[in-house]
Amino acid sequence: MAARTIDGAAVAKRLREKIAEKIVARRVVPGLAVVLVGDDPASQVYVRNKGRAAEEVGMKSWTHRLPADATQKQLLDLIAGLNIDPQVHGILVQLPLPKQIDAQAIIAAVDPAKDVDGFHPVNAGRLSLGLPGFVPCTPRGCMILIREALPDLAGRKALVLGRSNIVGKPMMQLLLRADCTVMVAHSKTRDLPAECRTADILVAAIGKPEFVRGDWIKPGAVVIDVGINRIDNLAQPGKSKLVGDVAYGEAMERAAAITPVPGGVGPMTIACLLENTLWGALGEVMGL
Ligand code: GUN
Repeated sequence: MAARTIDGAAVAKRLREKIAEKIVARRVVPGLAVVLVGDDPASQVYVRNKGRAAEEVGMKSWTHRLPADATQKQLLDLIAGLNIDPQVHGILVQLPLPKQIDAQAIIAAVDPAKDVDGFHPVNAGRLSLGLPGFVPCTPRGCMILIREALPDLAGRKALVLGRSNIVGKPMMQLLLRADCTVMVAHSKTRDLPAECRTADILVAAIGKPEFVRGDWIKPGAVVIDVGINRIDNLAQPGKSKLVGDVAYGEAMERAAAITPVPGGVGPMTIACLLENTLWGALGEVMGL
């Protein structure tokens, strides 16, 4: 039987509507500052989408652009200004950063109370301790979609494919917090297909196009595809298309529910960023 598609675009739209309503009801104007260093085309698209989405729900947004050869000091000075700007409730420095800049030093320079990415060591630490704090947007969006498909998570076996600080590690923490039994697999994992076949919930976040094949999926599993990979479109020579980390057509035949690419996790990341920014403006994040 074909899997149910988890419509991330629709879930994200509902979340954005709730955020817009709350902004009106609470009479706040949340402010989101997005920082882009260099001219990576994909990052430019993401940054534009984030700014536009913020304004659509009634927030203020600013995009600060620095050249690709900007120094670490320039970026630190910019962040220091945003940290003390009372109109700014959320600061997002788009990653990856150019090689001359130490990304960890930049992440650590953002005020943890404005760290809407949830990447600061304070927020990462709070997540691992089970304390309230900003949660990274992509894993939080994945959790919402998983709960859409599978309300009762306790005792389920979840496998996270990928161990990045942005997705894999926080995803592991959130699944653990939801009482799942969690495994994190990665490039050194032995017999990855066999490990995947044991998972009731499979989250793929490795950045390899259509890497997870249909026969790696446990029948009836929930599959969350975090990958956004641009590949040549063989059906239309000269054109490209977006695919996930999962071979979608094959996985459809085995999974109970699966997120598409595009229209799955991607829109949820932005909606969760807006939610974090609203919490930052309301000063409620530490009491989540
Ligand atoms: N680059 C890829 N994903 C992200 C994200 O969630 N936040 C930031 N700041 N950069 C990214």
